[in-house]
Amino acid sequence: MGKVVGAKRLRARAWARRWASVIGIVERLAQAIRGRRALAVPRRCAENPCMPSFPATAHKPAQRSADAKRLARRLAQLRRVFDLDAIARQPADAPLITSYYHQNFHPYRRYHSAEGAMHMALNPGGRFDREGYLGQAQRLEALWAAQPPADVLELAFGKGFNLEYLAPRWPGVRFSGIDLTPRNVRHAQSRPALAGVALSRADMHALPFEAGSFDCVFCVEGFCHATDVPRALAEQARVLRPGGLFVLFDGYRERAVETMSAEEALAVTVVEKSMAVDAFQHVETLVGQAAAAGLQLVSNESLAAAVMPNFRRLDRMASLFLLVPPLTRRWLGGRSAERGRNLAAAALGRWTVSMGLQGYREMVWRKGDGGA
Ligand SMILES: C[S@@+](CC[C@H](N)C(=O)[O-])C[C@H]1O[C@@H](n2cnc3c(N)ncnc32)[C@H](O)[C@@H]1O
Repeated sequence: MGKVVGAKRLRARAWARRWASVIGIVERLAQAIRGRRALAVPRRCAENPCMPSFPATAHKPAQRSADAKRLARRLAQLRRVFDLDAIARQPADAPLITSYYHQNFHPYRRYHSAEGAMHMALNPGGRFDREGYLGQAQRLEALWAAQPPADVLELAFGKGFNLEYLAPRWPGVRFSGIDLTPRNVRHAQSRPALAGVALSRADMHALPFEAGSFDCVFCVEGFCHATDVPRALAEQARVLRPGGLFVLFDGYRERAVETMSAEEALAVTVVEKSMAVDAFQHVETLVGQAAAAGLQLVSNESLAAAVMPNFRRLDRMASLFLLVPPLTRRWLGGRSAERGRNLAAAALGRWTVSMGLQGYREMVWRKGDGGA
């Protein structure tokens, strides 16, 4: 009897593995086809570093009920694979964050960006193009054009994608970077293009730098992990010189969770927790906290429309994984919880952003003369 059950289990596991590899092959084929098409598309970002601005995604009333239905369907599909309430309850502290990025070192490369970008591509043209991964760095360059900085710090550099692009293009700038995850730090330190950049393992809440060390501190999709936002902001204000810029590209809550329906609030929380984020910052709250840290808001621009092509791409991939829930459950069963569950974020992010519950923004602050 035991042997029969064991054999059945082995067969099911083999099926699950085959299913995952079929999904991988389909997605890679699709990527190859899209990649070939992308070559024919003009390289917007490279040609135009001062990219146009985008309005926040408008959520028309007529669309609202259709969106709500779609979100409910997505949640129902996900429930067949995950215990969503358990995901929503999981706290995201520093050990969980480092474990998440350690576990997802290869999946990010495989399903997101082989080039090492760990952030959303900016595609203002409405179609996914890997060139868009350079979008955040190019927007920074546009900010620096009038007054080039001398010392720049990237918080949470991940695999070093942004610094690898910026460092050779700005030879007169001294670049530094910190990240919490040892595996990412070791990887970035081994990249030849980053040999001249001072990279270290550190926490954005306690930076190993003297006060007034930098003209610009920037962070791409890492500040959402801050577990004590006022403290992290005070730390950035401390290491900035008076007049220095603090620039964030990140996901935010566009609405207070208290104003959302139960399903909307669950979807928003699952998106965040399944990416090891305790809770995205609420835009207005963050602006108030930054002011208290001595940082004056210079600009606050929604890039939600520009990240939608990347969200649609992730959504398509997630749809394939959700086609046959028992197989996906089997496949996930052999993986760590952190590794598998960002499939939930991929399956929901398109909807939470298009419904205006969450957003994606570039926010720029300047440290005032009387700053912390
Ligand atoms: C989504 S990745 C973004 C990486 C990179 N900025 C990019 O654009 O590709 C987030 C990074 O934040 C780092 N991180 C999370 N919490 C941190 C903290 N408290 N201090 C420093 N880095 C942190 C993680 O280790 C991870 O590498």
